[in-house]
Amino acid sequence: MLILGIETSCDETACAIVKDGVEELSSSLATSADLHQKTGGVVPEVAARKQVESIVPVIKDCLDKAGLKSTNIDALAVTVGPGLIGSLIVGVEAAKALSIVWNKPLIPVNHLVGHVYGNFVNNKDFEDIKFPFVALVVSGGHTDLILMRSHTDISFLGGTLDDAAGEAFDKTARLLGISSYLGGVDLARLAATCQRSSARGELPRPLLHAPSFDFSFSGLKTAVKNLAATDKHSAADLAAEFEDAVVEVLVTKTIKAAQATKVNTILLGGGVSANLKLRGQFEAKALETGLQVYYPPLSLCGDNAVYIASRAYFKSLPSSYIYPDLALIRPNPGLGIMDLV
Ligand code: KG4
Ligand code: ZN
Repeated sequence: MLILGIETSCDETACAIVKDGVEELSSSLATSADLHQKTGGVVPEVAARKQVESIVPVIKDCLDKAGLKSTNIDALAVTVGPGLIGSLIVGVEAAKALSIVWNKPLIPVNHLVGHVYGNFVNNKDFEDIKFPFVALVVSGGHTDLILMRSHTDISFLGGTLDDAAGEAFDKTARLLGISSYLGGVDLARLAATCQRSSARGELPRPLLHAPSFDFSFSGLKTAVKNLAATDKHSAADLAAEFEDAVVEVLVTKTIKAAQATKVNTILLGGGVSANLKLRGQFEAKALETGLQVYYPPLSLCGDNAVYIASRAYFKSLPSSYIYPDLALIRPNPGLGIMDLV
């Protein structure tokens, strides 16, 4: 089954064609990140205008690259949320229009659950990923822990009470003067240059020992700010300390969640799952605890349409799945991870 997926939740305009949920046939992506770099953050209006410019060329490019025509496509998929309303509208309305013109069903996808499916695509061992598993979705806007018993049976375990992990990376990068927009990668790069931090152990590990599976990262960012104000530590030391604190909290709480729910497998997803320290720590702890940890290839951590098409395939696989009426498919900026499962 060939699904053409569309993703326009923020500043990326993406389209992908995926076969049977696991084989990427083509992927095309345009981004307006360079414009937001200049303003130090996404201007929603600017992002939406760029979506309008890019959507048709990106879809066309994706079909061309795969050497396919609309008649070859079996179904469409689109991110309906969460995200920026102006950006989401462009993708959702484009997908609906194609659904009518091509006479193909349209599957609405939750972007956050979609991130988890970066683990299934282009992975020859995808069948080794066994339910039930705990998934940690760590992106710029969300940090959520869920228990997946099947592709459609999902329970919420916990989430951030304030800043998302990626948001904390970005805000900390900005306050350390590393980068003005999406500084997570740059912060991680600087942290990697730290040999021996002079600030070792100076930062808190928020909610590490709390009984819940919730997270809180805004205090950590403030703690970095206060430590930076002492002028005693280099930016590299502070970046390394910050990264260590976030990674320790994410790894420890996710493993606790897996143990509490008695599952053997953990899946990571979202932009922050590209962080090498996070991956390394998960691997180390997985060895110690006998858990199996999966993370997507780097190319499928950030936003793209490949995992949207994959999620749509697996979500619509049960024979009980009913394609929703187009009129009921609407963009929802505030969609939570448990909505639209
Ligand atoms: O999933 P994503 O591409 O977009 C959202 O859905 O939000 O995630 C973007 C987030 C940004 O906050 C970015 O700084 C962060 O992922 N990120 C990283 C790394 N690569 C991307 N954070 C830490 N280390 C990285 N290597
Ligand atoms: Zn995302």
